Amino acid sequence: MNDSVIKVHDKYFKKSILFEEIDKAIQDIADRLNEELEYKNPLFLSVLNGAFMFSSELFKKLNFPCEISFVKLASYSGTSSTETVRQLIGFDEDIKGRTVVIIEDIVDTGLTMERILEQLRIMKAADVKIATLLLKPEAFKGSYALDYVGIEIPNDFIVGFGLDYNKRGRNYKDIYKVVE
Ligand code: IMP
Ligand code: MG
Repeated sequence: MNDSVIKVHDKYFKKSILFEEIDKAIQDIADRLNEELEYKNPLFLSVLNGAFMFSSELFKKLNFPCEISFVKLASYSGTSSTETVRQLIGFDEDIKGRTVVIIEDIVDTGLTMERILEQLRIMKAADVKIATLLLKPEAFKGSYALDYVGIEIPNDFIVGFGLDYNKRGRNYKDIYKVVE
């Protein structure tokens, strides 16, 4: 089997976005951040686990004084409701009054991002920007602005470049889409 098809657990995935294209999209985001946030002393907040690879590539391309921290979303079910509550954990930074840039791997429906925005509002961030490597516009239901979007993709399930299928597949430098 050639390397453009990989198997993760029970599913096959076909190479769909090459690292070169990903890298160019990240450079475009970095160029804009370098221009727009140079004097804002921003705090970058990388959302684990998926965004670790994007965060690392993006952060290397920034050339002004800035800081990065890592957060994770803990999902748990409330006792009185069947709704899943997601809360940010890993915050040890003082968010109040800061310009915060959320770094995400992918925005799908936008619900995860909604939760993060809520938390940052409670913590009184002065300004919150969103940088996402990937966006599925057909699935997105959010009513907030996505400030920095790398690549728009169709509603296909993908792995690679940090994204997983049941914890596997994060290690590939290119992005692969599921073969139905
Ligand atoms: P949302 O809350 O629907 O926007 O989903 C966002 C989260 O779902 C992302 O942070 C990913 O962890 C995960 N996700 C969405 N689409 C994909 C995909 O195609 N592959 C892997 N993970 C995905
Ligand atoms: Mg994620």
